[in-house]
Amino acid sequence: MKGGGAYISIGSSTSSINSMGSGSGSGSGSKMTLGKSVKMYLTIFIATTCIYMVLYQYHMSREPFAPSEVGKPPLYIITPTYRRPEQLAELTRLGYTLKHVANLLWLVIEDANKTNPLVAHTLDRIGVPYEYMVAPMPEKYKQTKKAKPRGVSNRNRGLEYLRQHATEGVLYFADDDNTYDISIFEQMRYISKVGMWPVGLVTKTGVSSPIIRNGKLDGYYDGWIGGRKYPVDMAGFAVNIKFLRQRPHAQMPFKPGYEEDGFLRSLAPLDNDEIDLLADECRDILTWHTQTKKNPPAQALNKTRYSNTNLVHIDKLLVRP
Ligand SMILES: *[C@@H]1O[C@H](CO)[C@@H](O)[C@H](O)[C@H]1NC(C)=O
Ligand SMILES: *[C@@H]1O[C@H](CO)[C@@H](O)[C@H](O)[C@H]1NC(C)=O
Repeated sequence: MKGGGAYISIGSSTSSINSMGSGSGSGSGSKMTLGKSVKMYLTIFIATTCIYMVLYQYHMSREPFAPSEVGKPPLYIITPTYRRPEQLAELTRLGYTLKHVANLLWLVIEDANKTNPLVAHTLDRIGVPYEYMVAPMPEKYKQTKKAKPRGVSNRNRGLEYLRQHATEGVLYFADDDNTYDISIFEQMRYISKVGMWPVGLVTKTGVSSPIIRNGKLDGYYDGWIGGRKYPVDMAGFAVNIKFLRQRPHAQMPFKPGYEEDGFLRSLAPLDNDEIDLLADECRDILTWHTQTKKNPPAQALNKTRYSNTNLVHIDKLLVRP
């Protein structure tokens, strides 16, 4: 859009320079005006060269994106994260998956009081457009000995960002430890309200999925129903931004096990037949709820033995909880 505007204004300024030039050329033939017109033609020549260089640069910068990709609805991917030894590995893996997806903004939100330069450096290196924010879990939820509502303040911070900055497109919660086939991203772009699809490897049932009977959504298959209206996995649904913005109070509850259900319920009114069924009408698996084995924090480096070696630098790259 911006580029198109620049092209038109550059084009019109070229023609005004040209008409000025021909106007002065038809005047008297004295040495003064000859010198003037040489200067003027020189100016025109330099100006035209500059314009072609700018246009060429603009053309080159557009080259990586096929024209069909420019108009695609944007995707907003909300990824909660937290400090742990696996953090940079997980973000790197997910980041390079997202790098295959056009017109996407990655909202990486850490459960912390301040951002970590190592995370920012990793995100910079991957090169996917991103916003890196923090959203610490409220203290009262940290105290509990029961399951903690992990990632909820992060995801709600993401929703707040979208209400401020996004007007169209689709939102998806992509945890950093899951596995995604990139075709699901192309499918979810065109969701009109809410879309759902199967998620592999969830508990011993092997999959969490909407049940489709006679072409219609007819309940859910999940290892644990727990009185939920929407017993789905976080990786198994996406929401249209306009639809979200029409529901200003929609958010995720601080209720372990009921995060997805609470958020989807807060999107009411939503009829079952308004839910788009992706991944070949839920007959395919394109996302998996995977989990990396937890690793113990790295031991401290013996700085006496390894002073003046590369290990001193590498040690600064390790995330310790
Ligand atoms: C953030 O700050 C609060 C209050 O200063 C502190 O109690 C809490 O432990 C901090 N959280 C983290 C994750 O460092
Ligand atoms: C660190 O290395 C030095 C030199 O090799 C050794 O004397 C010392 O015991 C080591 N310290 C620890 C804590 O292992």
